[in-house]
Amino acid sequence: MSRDLTNHVIIITGASSGIGAATARACAAAGMDVVLNARRADRLEAVASDVRACGRRAITVVGDVVEPDLSRRLLEAATATFGRFDAVFANAGIGTEGTIAALPDEAFRRMFDVNFHASVDLVRAAARRMLADGTTGHLLMCSSSLAKIALPGGGVYCATKAAQNVICRAMRMELAPEGIHVSSVHPIGTATEFFEASASYAAAAGVSTSPFKPPPRILLQSPDRVARAIVRQLRRRHPRPEVWTCWPLRLLAAVSGVSPRLQDAVIRRVVTW
Ligand SMILES: NC(=O)c1ccc[n+]([C@@H]2O[C@H](COP(=O)([O-])OP(=O)(O)OC[C@H]3O[C@@H](n4cnc5c(N)ncnc54)[C@H](OP(=O)(O)O)[C@@H]3O)[C@@H](O)[C@H]2O)c1
Repeated sequence: MSRDLTNHVIIITGASSGIGAATARACAAAGMDVVLNARRADRLEAVASDVRACGRRAITVVGDVVEPDLSRRLLEAATATFGRFDAVFANAGIGTEGTIAALPDEAFRRMFDVNFHASVDLVRAAARRMLADGTTGHLLMCSSSLAKIALPGGGVYCATKAAQNVICRAMRMELAPEGIHVSSVHPIGTATEFFEASASYAAAAGVSTSPFKPPPRILLQSPDRVARAIVRQLRRRHPRPEVWTCWPLRLLAAVSGVSPRLQDAVIRRVVTW
């Protein structure tokens, strides 16, 4: 039997657009209250309004995920307003394309700070709070199908997503005895603002190579599809370790465990195409 999520509380970073915003709306439709974070206050407020239109409660915490006290502010906002939190979705992320040799140091570090360090800081803080309070819950990070596939020109982004995946795997084993679930989410190309954000970030960071190009539209999934998969995962009494939304990509990822050479050859062909 699946879990009833009514009155459960979820904290979502990167909730002003794309996968985060879709997840906030899907969680509200499932009966959850939400704590929303991103930097653009107006966009965040629009998502909060959608949540309230569903009859659920929403609060916003505006800020950059790399701010040192953001995790604390998010957890305190949840407990002060709702008295609890049951789930955390560390979703905020950016991408910039560039070869490992060419990518400016600042862009390299920023990607790790936002995608990896900030998401790890949040789930660690949430885990510590749950352990101290003797509560249980579900911690999720938005990784990517690229966590297990290295793209030429996208290696740093892939590395941040692989690092998230490994941390989730270790935390899952460490926290399972305490009844705390940890999962990583692995979307394929998704029709969000990610590619435009990547282009403007690349321009600001002075990256001379082209930013992440979106795959052909026909290959993009919708953020709602990812959001539905996340809600299904939250409902599971025995959650899956990893949430994948495209089985062929998962199979391609599995190939690297058996033959990295074969996977490299496939990826090179796909990228050239
Ligand atoms: N789109 C894809 O093809 C795809 C595929 C696999 C995985 N993903 C992952 O999915 C996650 C969500 O991306 P998306 O596709 O939904 O892209 P998106 O529409 O660009 O959403 C990214 C979200 O992160 C927020 N954000 C970015 N930097 C932030 C920071 N420093 N502090 C706080 N919030 C920040 C953005 O809001 P503000 O700008 O308002 O701060 C926005 O709400 C990312 O982790 C991404 O790596 C995306």
